[in-house]
Amino acid sequence: MTTELELNENPLMPGLERTPVRSTALVIFGATGDLASRKLLPAIYNLAHEGALPEHIQLVGISRGEMTDDEFREQSRDSIERFSRRRPDADVLNGLLSNVRYVAGSFDEEDLYARLKGGLEAIDSDIGLSLNRVFYLSTAPEFFPIILERLGEVGLSESEGADVRVVIEKPIGYDLASAKVQNLAVLNYFDESQVFRIDHYLGKETVQNLMALRFANALFEPVWNRNFIDHVQITAAEDIGIGTRAGYYEGAGALRDLVQNHMLQLLALLTMEPPTAFEANRLRDEKVKVLEAISPPTLEDVAGMAVRAQYGPGVVSGTECVGYRQGDGVASDSRTETYAALRLHVNNWRWAGVPFYLRTGKRLSRKLTEIAVTLRPVPHMAFQSTDGMGSAPNQIILTVQPDEGVSVSLGAKVPGTKMQIRPVNMEFHYGTSFESESPEAYERLILDAMRGDATLFTRNDEVEALWRIIDPILAAWGQDTTSEIPQYAAGSSGPVEAQALLEGRSWRRL
Ligand code: BG6
Repeated sequence: MTTELELNENPLMPGLERTPVRSTALVIFGATGDLASRKLLPAIYNLAHEGALPEHIQLVGISRGEMTDDEFREQSRDSIERFSRRRPDADVLNGLLSNVRYVAGSFDEEDLYARLKGGLEAIDSDIGLSLNRVFYLSTAPEFFPIILERLGEVGLSESEGADVRVVIEKPIGYDLASAKVQNLAVLNYFDESQVFRIDHYLGKETVQNLMALRFANALFEPVWNRNFIDHVQITAAEDIGIGTRAGYYEGAGALRDLVQNHMLQLLALLTMEPPTAFEANRLRDEKVKVLEAISPPTLEDVAGMAVRAQYGPGVVSGTECVGYRQGDGVASDSRTETYAALRLHVNNWRWAGVPFYLRTGKRLSRKLTEIAVTLRPVPHMAFQSTDGMGSAPNQIILTVQPDEGVSVSLGAKVPGTKMQIRPVNMEFHYGTSFESESPEAYERLILDAMRGDATLFTRNDEVEALWRIIDPILAAWGQDTTSEIPQYAAGSSGPVEAQALLEGRSWRRL
């Protein structure tokens, strides 16, 4: 079990104590929504269970529907009992929920913010302490500007003697232009140092482990470049469809939903130069630098470096599924992609000439998020390949989920009188190497936001660098309103068209 001490340690520099988390009022806008019920409230409970929360933690839920504090308390209890990764302990849960308040109102209503301000001041005076304030915007993105504006106007973007922070969920914009508008709207009222833009992949243990693997081991750095690496494949495959999220997904698609944020973050962490310190701005400077080394394609290039597709009917894990266009809330002639694959290049000294292949899709054969780094073959193979066996280039595979871990493939001699070589794997699995269960990404991120540590959050210029890569692909796909969108059967490993991106190589088996 993770202890408070471990949660207060710098994850990237074990043993080094981090800034303590000060007593905080955590205000959740959209507190009765899906994200709050499934992820945020259970994460807060698990932090309480670990003893990681500060002495005073005051939860304030905001949503449109009328509800008393008690009703919101019971609704939160229900969410935590249903979705927490561990079965809640009655005392811890009661302790956490004893400090819950609820404020009803619509997000544009000025009076809501006046009441919120009064409520927060009353809490401070009851406790006799200026609590830090974290405003968590767990709402649809169209409400972000108005919430930030109203918070700013009523003077809630600062508080004497305490820190005020705002956490923003994705999507940050719809394209580069709208992301810029949103960044400006945020920075009108808050300083960049107060803004925590969540990409939940950065909160995953295995994603942080990518940095540990690269920068806490001397073994990999000498080969981590164009001289030794042939190519990289990054896969984020999902077996699930879009559930009840058609309203959002129809306007987003796979490129915006997963590639622009999670997958490019994985690519940035994999390819960035080592930061001089694991401090928020140093790390993010390196990420921005490497993202800027990825030249955005021209509109003409897009057809040769990007493939989109949609799932049709099929069978996933033994269950028949309808095609995307037959799903609830989806237009029968929808052109929204549920699959995207790209070939990208990082044009700098370290990576010139190494292709990075990215693919993601809904309703594929299984859930798998992994990074596979394939090294170049040895320059001369002295051993004969017999009986269908032979050496294969070394691969370093980082599995983000499920079965989190790392494996390195090596050529080894098959026991016997012949000199036969066969690939074998050296493996590390989180499940067996560490006894502790990994915290959920949101646990780490909520705690870091309360602590004011932005290392695992996305900076405004980084968001814009991410969109710069994606924008031309969106534009080219948007302009093409007539050609057929390739289809793949639900439960398959994706469209055949994606093969063409690999220049003679093959996608790893799903
Ligand atoms: C979210 C996307 O950001 O990430 C979802 O909006 C996707 O469509 C999810 O399913 C995947 O996250 P995870 O942690 O399950 O890999």
